[in-house]
Amino acid sequence: MKDLKEEVVGLIEKEIDDILAKEEIEKLVEIPPDSEMGDYAFPCFRLSKALKKSPNLISQELAEKIEKNSYIEKVESLGPYLNFFIDKEKLTEIVLNEVKEKKERYGSSDMGKGKTVIVEYSSPNIAKPFHIGHIRTTIIGHALYDIYKYLGYNAVAINHLGDYGTQFGKLIVAYKKWGDRKIVEKDPINELLKLYVKFHKEMENDSTLEEQARHWFKKLEDGDSEALELWQWMRDMSLKEFNRVYDILGIKFDSFTGESFYSDKMPKVVDDMRKKGILKKSQGAEIVDLEPYGMPPALITKSDGSTLYITRDIAAAIYRKEHYNFYKNVYVVGSEQILHFKQWKKIVELIGYPWAKDCIHVNFGMVRLEEGTMSTRKGRVVFLEDVLKKAVEKTLAIIEERNPNLENKDEVAKQVGIGAIVFQELFNNRIKDYTFTWEKTLSFDGETGPYVQYTYARANRLLEKGNFSPDNEIDYSILSAPEEINIIKMIYNFPKEIVTAMEKNEPSFVARSIMGIAKAFNSFYNSCPIMQEEDNLKNARLQLVWATKSVIKAGLSLLGMETPDKM
Ligand code: ARG
Repeated sequence: MKDLKEEVVGLIEKEIDDILAKEEIEKLVEIPPDSEMGDYAFPCFRLSKALKKSPNLISQELAEKIEKNSYIEKVESLGPYLNFFIDKEKLTEIVLNEVKEKKERYGSSDMGKGKTVIVEYSSPNIAKPFHIGHIRTTIIGHALYDIYKYLGYNAVAINHLGDYGTQFGKLIVAYKKWGDRKIVEKDPINELLKLYVKFHKEMENDSTLEEQARHWFKKLEDGDSEALELWQWMRDMSLKEFNRVYDILGIKFDSFTGESFYSDKMPKVVDDMRKKGILKKSQGAEIVDLEPYGMPPALITKSDGSTLYITRDIAAAIYRKEHYNFYKNVYVVGSEQILHFKQWKKIVELIGYPWAKDCIHVNFGMVRLEEGTMSTRKGRVVFLEDVLKKAVEKTLAIIEERNPNLENKDEVAKQVGIGAIVFQELFNNRIKDYTFTWEKTLSFDGETGPYVQYTYARANRLLEKGNFSPDNEIDYSILSAPEEINIIKMIYNFPKEIVTAMEKNEPSFVARSIMGIAKAFNSFYNSCPIMQEEDNLKNARLQLVWATKSVIKAGLSLLGMETPDKM
């Protein structure tokens, strides 16, 4: 699509290329806070010294000198600023044609062609509940994965399962002592959790348990067949449970290479670290001293030779570089692991890999559940699956009330209920902690998923009623109401928001842009009649409705949400 900022920069450049380079002009051109002041503004302060004139005077002179073209309607001087107004008819034409061409892939591009980006997300721990705390990494990570793909990157989704570590030694010991296969298989995660809790309790009476657990984990690392078999069984059962949640969310991974995948890759990595001289012996264990970098030491091998979480992350990064030759390696993991990521990235750099800087920790804040949101199943953990199911149930009740005659209510309740949770996750800036409430999530008229989906259904209904075809020829100049131009501008900006979301690894840019478009559409809907207008205006407005609908669909599917036609 035509880049209008480029157009503005070009016009300015023609006049002042002897003073400022194009890139500098580009950096200076901004979007004014108020659209009354134009669509782009150029502050003239930087020219003052070279031209020996006040910025205000320069702005006045430039406003007269600059040659307008078909994209620019007028150039105005306002104090030290030079304000550019885009030609509305031209803008409308550009935007509507672009949507017509790209439809529900509007905003997609091939800017990432030939570059591989790994997005690691979700990564729950085997034999532990897939709980509400995992919701953010799962949903944010999946959205980022889709965003990278949309922009033409070769994106790879990896689930770095927590399927290794001393806790498996504990689980094996506990299971061998107190477990029963049939009972565990009936309700695996809860039963394994119970065994794990029991293990810790019994540790108070039996001081040998810890040693036994270490022993069994060592056996697992050494490939003992009984240990391996038990571990595999627990992993399979857990994956089955996790997959239920992924199915509900419509999420897929390209790879489930979890921590265990790196067990045979670690000896070489640890060896390389020794050769580099960055490992220090410390009471039989090996550590990397990170004090010069202002961080506590990192424990790499324990005294019995077994490895740790951080060792596996180092091995994983190296493997990924060798295997995928990534351009970026993105980890969607909570803020509580900031230090962990800083430590291992530093170590990778110390081993001698400059690409350590391309490993990016995309961190996020915590979700708190408002009191009474969920009654907990067993113990005090809130299972993610239960939250999703409850969202669907509650949405169905809302639909029963609002629109009892709706066809396939159950399907719609699922799309809207799950969509509500997803949207709520992505609308918030990921760094912030937030409190989950049903009211804020499921409401049809706040800044919510259901609100946007409802807007989509509304647009759809209008198009059906108006017998619309996107191939109708329209007169672009007829769309001149401020509400109409407002939508056009927001749609114009949408592709840029996707790029910003990618650059900052922050899907909320996409969610907020779509929310803006939905709101703009609803104020258009409230002030611009359609069906009763004469054909020219009616067709043009329907074209705008169709474009809005297509862009909302593009945006929501980018975020992992569905768009029911009716709701
Ligand atoms: N399994 C870990 C947890 O649930 C998250 C793993 C994050 N990824 C990583 N490469 N360390 O806390």
